[in-house]
Amino acid sequence: MTDTLASRSGPLITYTLDAFPEPPPTLEAARAHANAQPLADIDVANPKLFHADLVEPYFERLRREDPVHYVESPTFGGYWSITRYNDIMSVDMNHQKFSSEAALGGITINDISNGRLPMFIAMDPPGHDVQRKAVQPIVAPPNLRNLEPLIRSRAAAILDGLPVGVEFDWVEKVSVELTAMTLATLMDFPQERRRKLTRWSDVATAVPGAGVIDRPEQWVEEMTECFTAFQNLWHERAAQPPGNDLISMLAHGEGTRNMPAHEFQGNVVLLIVGGNDTTRNSITGSVLALNQNPDQYRKLRERPELVASMVSETIRWQTPLAHMRRTAVEDVEFGGKVIRKGDKVVMWYLSGNRDERVIERPDEYIIDRPRPRQHMSFGYGIHRCVGNRLAEMQLQIVWEEILKRFPTIEVTGPPQRVYSTFIRGYRSLPVKIPHRL
Ligand code: HEM
Repeated sequence: MTDTLASRSGPLITYTLDAFPEPPPTLEAARAHANAQPLADIDVANPKLFHADLVEPYFERLRREDPVHYVESPTFGGYWSITRYNDIMSVDMNHQKFSSEAALGGITINDISNGRLPMFIAMDPPGHDVQRKAVQPIVAPPNLRNLEPLIRSRAAAILDGLPVGVEFDWVEKVSVELTAMTLATLMDFPQERRRKLTRWSDVATAVPGAGVIDRPEQWVEEMTECFTAFQNLWHERAAQPPGNDLISMLAHGEGTRNMPAHEFQGNVVLLIVGGNDTTRNSITGSVLALNQNPDQYRKLRERPELVASMVSETIRWQTPLAHMRRTAVEDVEFGGKVIRKGDKVVMWYLSGNRDERVIERPDEYIIDRPRPRQHMSFGYGIHRCVGNRLAEMQLQIVWEEILKRFPTIEVTGPPQRVYSTFIRGYRSLPVKIPHRL
């Protein structure tokens, strides 16, 4: 592997928030705007709408009136929005016509120039398949069984150390802490430096000026530090016999051991963002959802056996990745429209998860739904989330341990959400634990 650093050419995200219109002030205003706006002008790809959590009325109208919708975005260029559950599934399952290739623009609405950081989530077969196979053992059932007691003891220690009777930030003290520990274990990265993983994960997908980094150069500095650290780990693991961690698996895997440096760096970003932000935001989302739905929280306390289905319902409700994007490799007739070769196609999982055609009472948070795993948050097809069982296991453990300790966790103020059309997550969530059990 040659030591070229993919960070040298600057941030993945180059737009700034100034490029986007301000969102309406309230949900009612957003609904009125969504319904009054000419249909052709609806452009949901505005990070400010996601930050204010006001995008749903726009999706609602698109699902109803124009489920395969084309619009030109001043920032992202022309793109199709696919907003109904079954249509999204059809696109996701059809990797032959809808490509994930980085060279065509990759898997987010924001094109990543020239496939600068190739990663297997942004590859088509056969490249995708060999690299996915290399890391799959980490989430195989025997490995999950090994991880379970470790994650449980850490969750217990984190919860036992929480302050009682005072306000604190749930994101910082619980969600970030536990997911960073797990990720460090998966990568056999030094635990004492685990917060670096969280920081790099935040920086990798940051919009300059939106709270994580101020300047584009900061991205280069911090991601250079990240990639240098991981290249060192790669060389260290490659020189040792194969081990049971993600870096060793990549350094020894038949389909990955000769990959170029920038491809390894791309996969590092995939694993730290995929394994970190999504689970972290689901843990935070669970506390928020249960507080907004006290009857469901009560039900959970009375019937702790509902933890597993509550976890799935939370992952649907949260939809930690709001979309995945594809590029059409040929002209395709779809939903009465013609999607042209080269067009950008955005599958809005967040909208699919609210599709009343498939999910009963989709706007409600119901922890004992009959089919709680029927949601699109993990995608479908060949790219379906490799870490989905690990994510569920972490959430399940956290809640089993919470229910043993605290009668309730009270949300004491509004959450701070992130500015992103891709990651649907939280910067902070103030909470208070009134007392222990
Ligand atoms: C609630 C937590 C999570 C959510 C919502 C989530 C969501 C997703 C989604 C939507 C995809 C793409 C699916 C598609 O294109 O059809 C994906 C792929 C992926 N996820 Fe996750 N993920 C989560 C947790 C994790 C964890 C814990 C890991 C790490 C172990 C992980 C690693 C990956 C990887 C490596 C891929 C690429 C798979 C491929 O391209 O074949 N994810 N995830």
